[in-house]
Amino acid sequence: MSPSDSHRDDPVGVAANAPAICSIRGLGRYLPERQLTNVDLEKVVDTSDEWIFQRTGIRSRRVMPEDWITSDLAVAAAQRALADADLPLTAIDQMILATVTPDHLCPSTACVVHHKLGMKNVPAFDISVACSGFGYALSIAAAGIVAGMHHNVLVIGAEAMTRFMNYEDRTSCILFGDGAGAAVVSKEGRFDLLYTDNGADGSMADMIEIPGGGSREPASEGTLQERRHFVVLRGREVFKSAVRQMSQSTRDAAEALGIQVSDIDWMVPHQANARIIEAVGEQLGLPAERVVVDLEDKGNTTAASIPIAFTGLYEQGRFEPGQLIALVGFGAGAAWSCQILRVRG
Ligand code: UT7
Repeated sequence: MSPSDSHRDDPVGVAANAPAICSIRGLGRYLPERQLTNVDLEKVVDTSDEWIFQRTGIRSRRVMPEDWITSDLAVAAAQRALADADLPLTAIDQMILATVTPDHLCPSTACVVHHKLGMKNVPAFDISVACSGFGYALSIAAAGIVAGMHHNVLVIGAEAMTRFMNYEDRTSCILFGDGAGAAVVSKEGRFDLLYTDNGADGSMADMIEIPGGGSREPASEGTLQERRHFVVLRGREVFKSAVRQMSQSTRDAAEALGIQVSDIDWMVPHQANARIIEAVGEQLGLPAERVVVDLEDKGNTTAASIPIAFTGLYEQGRFEPGQLIALVGFGAGAAWSCQILRVRG
């Protein structure tokens, strides 16, 4: 049964007629095959499969091959999105890569991907918005298309999170995994973008960080010894803020579109923790089968998590014409994102 059969008497009021800002024409994702299981982690830090699964919903996370770097993940996902969009590479006139685990600080990883894909001359750049990066990148793509500056924008979320884990810190190293997701954004496509809104609150900037390696704490023997080049987080604070903000972003979106939250057929939230996602679903009164949890064998892939979960459903043929999809992100910054899409008929 499709979720829409159970909750909707009429086709979605205002959103049924809402004009499309632009559209997603193709989707792709790439997940490395190798899995680092909770049982593997039990041998490395003081933790247990039971604790990790109960507190997060994660059983394993993906780890890319040792000779791969973030740009390789991005290229693999991008090639699949391009094939799905049925567009030649030459049709792409902008590329935006969301990542917090770039190949290096300079130049952008987008430029490396550009070269690996064989692109010529078109603009390419990284954005650093952590778990909300894909939503922000969709917004930038949409703005360029609406302004008439671009026709087809390649948007990628790619993360090599396992390269930035401190495997002596059980509060963080159990959470994250590697992966990439990509979308081709065009004027016409399969998923019409009806709404996009993003936000940030820099007062929470120290809630999740990679403290070393930037201008504040340049790399030194001290930063290496103190393991300052890895992710650190205050998990409980992130948890509460994520539930509050993701619920609020979704309510704001529904209000702006003149619909009820219950009109949303699929909520595809950032995949940080199954308990965060379930709490958001409960706060919004959405049935569990409409709130996507896709992290048991992937962990948290930061900017890649939303396009990975979204593409997974798409590849399984789960979407039906007219359905509304909410992509909702929250993470380091703090930064958040919310996009509402409608499946084309
Ligand atoms: O995408 C945005 C980034 N994502 C995040 O930042 C994650 C958001 N937060 C979370 O997912 C959860 O807060 C965690 C999974 C990180 C932690 O779950 P929690 O239910 O909030 O646990 P807690 O931090 O309150 O810790 C409870 C206990 C502590 O022990 P005491 O102080 O009660 O004795 C921790 O030391 O669990 C202990 N603990 C662990 N035990 C076994 C923390 N990590 C582990 C572990 N294994 N890996």
